[in-house]
Amino acid sequence: MAGYLDRIGAGKILVDSEPLSFDWLPNELVGRDEALGEIASMFMGIESPNFSGRAIVIGPVGSGKTAIVRRFSEDLRKHLADTRRILPVHINCRNHPTTSQVLQRIAQILDHRHPERGFSPGEIIQSIRRNLQNSGRHMLLVLDEVSVLLLREGDDLLYQLLRIDEGREETGTLSLILVSQEPMVHLFEAAVKSRFGQSNHIRLRPYNEEGLRAIVDQRTSAACRKGSVRDDAKSRIAGFAAETGDARLAIELLESAIRRAEKKGVSEVSPEHVEPSSTRGAGIEPDMVDGLNDHQKMCLLALCRRLRREESVTSGDAERLYHVVCEEYEGEPRGHTSFWGYIKRLEEIGFIHAETSNTPKGRGRTTLIRAANILPATVEKRLEKDLNRNNIA
Ligand SMILES: Nc1ncnc2c1ncn2[C@@H]1O[C@H](COP(=O)(O)OP(=O)(O)OP(=O)(O)O)[C@@H](O)[C@H]1O
Ligand SMILES: [Mg+2]
Repeated sequence: MAGYLDRIGAGKILVDSEPLSFDWLPNELVGRDEALGEIASMFMGIESPNFSGRAIVIGPVGSGKTAIVRRFSEDLRKHLADTRRILPVHINCRNHPTTSQVLQRIAQILDHRHPERGFSPGEIIQSIRRNLQNSGRHMLLVLDEVSVLLLREGDDLLYQLLRIDEGREETGTLSLILVSQEPMVHLFEAAVKSRFGQSNHIRLRPYNEEGLRAIVDQRTSAACRKGSVRDDAKSRIAGFAAETGDARLAIELLESAIRRAEKKGVSEVSPEHVEPSSTRGAGIEPDMVDGLNDHQKMCLLALCRRLRREESVTSGDAERLYHVVCEEYEGEPRGHTSFWGYIKRLEEIGFIHAETSNTPKGRGRTTLIRAANILPATVEKRLEKDLNRNNIA
């Protein structure tokens, strides 16, 4: 069914599912004023043309690192709209884990006609620089999950970015924010360390129960009918999520509690609908689907369409659904062995769990697939958008 109809007759509780997706960025983050103030203080002076800022944001999973830097970038852009043109660019290094992929991505954001290959990193950096200077923009570059790149390739990219203006007349081409779960300065060579300075580190603590409760309140107000999620249910969610302090987990628990209540046809989410997630590993953000190939995407889309309504799907059904999706996007379905390869890959990444068990009637074994670290409805939307853009061979 067409996604745009989702909201019509959406159920007794949910009014808008968007605020429950990880991509949704509230206009105001709750309880992180101090951290935002700290970042802002590191960019004091950014209104003047030659200023370049630098910051490092560190914090455990789901502590709001990505949300905070996104909010800051966007707020700053608006705040300075009349003074300096800020161009926020957010790159997740898990999706772009090499120097050349990051540079290529930046170049393409600046100019979608930028050729895919044929240039050295140094040349791409200079073309990025020219583009920014000519258009009078200052790039606020966020390298999220940067330790993935640092561990793989070292800090050469940072070195090159930090000296982008060296020996030039105009300076202030770019500001840099690095984001990571683990401290990373030990991965820097001296040249990068000295350019980064000591004082511009922000360390986020995991959320406590109160903080998580506030986040759950905010999402509930934005997504649900007034009064349709009971206070004691929200407290239970905050209590479960407080074990790790992970805001993403709190949002996920809220989403699944709403789904459970709606499935039962009741008009109120109560504590019995809140269940701890047993299958959680590291959180997965929807943009991680960008790293999949088209057939893996179509396979995941098939799974999501079923898993947004059911707890699990059998591998047999999943394969049939995959064929349907292939037909929809005019792709030639791959054979059984390839299909299994996709399932294995999706399980490795942590999107799904596949569990083999005996069938109830004792006729051999079947594999049951469940969603692991994803919200199927969110991932489904993202995949549909993505597959519509690509032409599948
Ligand atoms: N203070 C907050 N107010 C509202 N929503 C928040 C807040 N902090 C985090 N969130 C939401 O919680 C989810 C997880 O936050 P975020 O993605 O920023 O965590 P992270 O620290 O980047 O985690 P990871 O290390 O896994 O990348 C996001 O959907 C985000 O919008
Ligand atoms: Mg993040």
